[in-house]
Amino acid sequence: MFVALAAPGHSVAGDEILKNSLANFAFENYEIAAYNSLIVLAEAGGFSQAVDILKQNLAEEEAMAKWLQDNLPDVTLQFAQLRDARVSAKI
Ligand SMILES: [Fe+2]
Repeated sequence: MFVALAAPGHSVAGDEILKNSLANFAFENYEIAAYNSLIVLAEAGGFSQAVDILKQNLAEEEAMAKWLQDNLPDVTLQFAQLRDARVSAKI
């Protein structure tokens, strides 16, 4: 949701690709924190079935955050190279 709200504001910036990448990374980490919080509440409330699903979702968010982190250097460098060449990074 945060990314969807931020993207229109980024669209007028020349570096929207980078800003959207940073916003995506931030939002994935927000989701990780939220799932960790929900897991604590589910465990405290004895909702063991919910805990399993929440942990599965948490693992997916962690995997996505890792993918974004792993790919951010390439995205950043590719953006800089395109900008140096005065080529738009937008499709
Ligand atoms: Fe996510």
